[in-house]
Amino acid sequence: MVKKVYTTLRDFVAQRDELGLNLPYSEDTSVLAKEYKIGNKVISNRLACQAMEGCDGTPDGSPDTLTKRRYRRFAEGGAGIIWFEATAVLEEGRANPRQLYITENNLDNFKAEVEVIKEAAIKENGYAPLVIMQATHSGRYSKPNGTPAPLIAYNNPVFEKGNPISSDRTVTDEYLDRVGEALVKGALLAEKAGFDGVDIKCCHRYLNSELLSAYNREGKYGGSLENRTRLLRESVKGAVESCSGDFIVSSRLNVYDGFEYPYGFGVSKDGGLDFDASEPDWLIKKLYDYGVRILNITMGNPYFNPHVNRPYAQGGYEAPEHPLEGVARVLNGTAKLKELNPDMALICSAVSFLGTAAPNVVSTYIKDNKFDFAGFGRTVFAYPDFAVDILKNGGMDKNKICICCSKCTEIMRKPGGTPGCVIRDRDTYLPIYKKLCGGKN
Ligand SMILES: Cc1cc2nc3c(=O)[nH]c(=O)nc-3n(C[C@H](O)[C@H](O)[C@H](O)COP(=O)(O)O)c2cc1C
Repeated sequence: MVKKVYTTLRDFVAQRDELGLNLPYSEDTSVLAKEYKIGNKVISNRLACQAMEGCDGTPDGSPDTLTKRRYRRFAEGGAGIIWFEATAVLEEGRANPRQLYITENNLDNFKAEVEVIKEAAIKENGYAPLVIMQATHSGRYSKPNGTPAPLIAYNNPVFEKGNPISSDRTVTDEYLDRVGEALVKGALLAEKAGFDGVDIKCCHRYLNSELLSAYNREGKYGGSLENRTRLLRESVKGAVESCSGDFIVSSRLNVYDGFEYPYGFGVSKDGGLDFDASEPDWLIKKLYDYGVRILNITMGNPYFNPHVNRPYAQGGYEAPEHPLEGVARVLNGTAKLKELNPDMALICSAVSFLGTAAPNVVSTYIKDNKFDFAGFGRTVFAYPDFAVDILKNGGMDKNKICICCSKCTEIMRKPGGTPGCVIRDRDTYLPIYKKLCGGKN
């Protein structure tokens, strides 16, 4: 079966029908230009740049040359929201030595970065995007010095197989209390730096997200749903209470992990891999009670099941499903949660594989109140001005779209790798790819 990003709406429709998938689309994409208000903040349109880590900060965690280049391009690209990439709040929770890391000492560098983003966007498009900083602890995937230094919520045989991580790498409840404090401090720093909001990251199996499935962990962070969601809930509550009323507190939330109970969240407890919305729904309602009004919904684990997390045309293994099935799982799972939580604004993920058909598909979901914003991930590396083209130039250009070749991920997996688009931004990223991945292209 063809696994190629769509360059025409007709190709998308033919594939969708062949696979029998529920993925409605519309020719009319005007809803994407509609404003949305959260408190006093006005978001100019329904397109979002998803969090995309560049692993290109300075050793002290500040934005460096490539970081600045990326965000200037995103800012000029016209999206209503820029979800600023994973930014560590504790040194030992950095995913790599060049992951961004916000502290009192480098706060001014983040402040300058936010100012540049806003100014560049206003100059280019006449409006500033909402900029949300993703506060993270990488947990199992921590590598602050470039070598794995995992900090796990619990041992997971699905990942660790015959090679269990030593039990002294399992974090204590006291350590998790400190992580919660650091996340709240990260929210305060983000506000001081001028971000519009913070995302207490709870996705893709980093620490907070791993806890969601800590069914067999002892103590106050494991077992019951209350306990498994405690770190996220308390950090969110702490951030809401500590920051000003205008500041947005959100989360990028994994609502489905894609591996079996008792190791996955949002998965049927009767065995198998079916999505079960009941626990994510409970959690979303709690977050709403705490004052959260926007969530960024995602699924899967980029290391273990990237076909769930970021459906691809070419990748590290032959996926067990067509990539369009992965796209449908994320979009329809998000729609299910919106149906259960109509007052919570939701951003969807995993739309890059739709290619030039993406605006047609996401606008139907948004028009029908099945989610509120379309979040583009890999696309923003390939095609940072996708939003301007969708909103003002009649749609996406087939010669600029992300082809979902996974080369950005390949770079990211290499020590010192600074991911970007090898195909569409080749002057900058092809040399990096060739050097690190030995790639021909
Ligand atoms: C190189 C790379 C870096 C990423 N960095 C982050 C990140 O910092 N935070 C995050 O939540 N997701 C991150 N993601 C996941 C994307 O935000 C997105 O969920 C994923 O690519 C699927 O969306 P897409 O199909 O539009 O690409 C990253 C993905 C890639 C390929």
